[in-house]
Amino acid sequence: MSGPAEAKTAHRNVLIIGASRGLGEAIVETYVERGARVVATVRNDAPSPLRDFVDSTDGGVRIEQVDIAEPEQIDALRARLSGEVFDLLFVVAGLSLAPADAVGADIDVRDFDRMMETNVLGVMRAVERLQDLVDPGGTIAVMSSGQGSVSNNTTGGFDVYRATKAALNQMFRSYAARHADERRSLLLLAPGWVRTSLGGENAMLEIGESIPPLVDTIDAQRGTPGLRFLDRHGNDVPW
Ligand SMILES: NC(=O)c1ccc[n+]([C@@H]2O[C@H](COP(=O)([O-])OP(=O)(O)OC[C@H]3O[C@@H](n4cnc5c(N)ncnc54)[C@H](OP(=O)(O)O)[C@@H]3O)[C@@H](O)[C@H]2O)c1
Repeated sequence: MSGPAEAKTAHRNVLIIGASRGLGEAIVETYVERGARVVATVRNDAPSPLRDFVDSTDGGVRIEQVDIAEPEQIDALRARLSGEVFDLLFVVAGLSLAPADAVGADIDVRDFDRMMETNVLGVMRAVERLQDLVDPGGTIAVMSSGQGSVSNNTTGGFDVYRATKAALNQMFRSYAARHADERRSLLLLAPGWVRTSLGGENAMLEIGESIPPLVDTIDAQRGTPGLRFLDRHGNDVPW
């Protein structure tokens, strides 16, 4: 791995929340390949692609533990990271519990609550409680989805998942409005429909087609203050 002096990324110290597998794990690999130092979180001690990657690589990643649905765990993580400064905080964690064709109003209320708690409240709690670890000229990114676009929703499907990402977008916009005088770049990101356990096997993209361009887009935004909702290629997604 190249050291920070030869880093090929604008974000050299990176904190990724929700990185055990899928897109989060691939984002960790990409930043490590680009010479960043990464702190990446998992929820538990279970074997995972992230742990396999850390075992196979020559440093550059530290694993921390947090479940974003548990506020006291976020506070404990914040305390453990005290004194560290990150160029990028990226909250990637999210889940979907309802089938694609489920009518939103038919969902079991516990599944509805769990999706909202994780994808909206948990993500925003992580942003609010970890944001002061981010350099004033750094970046706070959140994994949204093209399905979070209200104006692009002409087909329905994934009703509740869409609703969680639209609510996340709205809450992050409120965060951006409250922090309008700051220099940080604030990003809501749509990675495309990607083959992971969440995206499913019919998804359009391999992880390798989504994440390197997404990381390019994040890096290109460094130093541009304010909020954007962007796809992996850096194009604006309609709200
Ligand atoms: N795949 C797609 O097509 C697609 C498209 C648009 C947006 N996204 C978004 O991208 C993000 C990652 O999705 P993915 O496709 O990589 O899904 P995935 O393979 O199912 O991975 C989800 C990740 O989120 C973590 N996570 C879930 N709940 C958590 C919690 N309460 N606290 C901390 N971590 C938690 C999981 O940890 P565990 O291993 O512990 O469960 C796992 O690391 C999600 O926000 C998703 O909505 C995905």
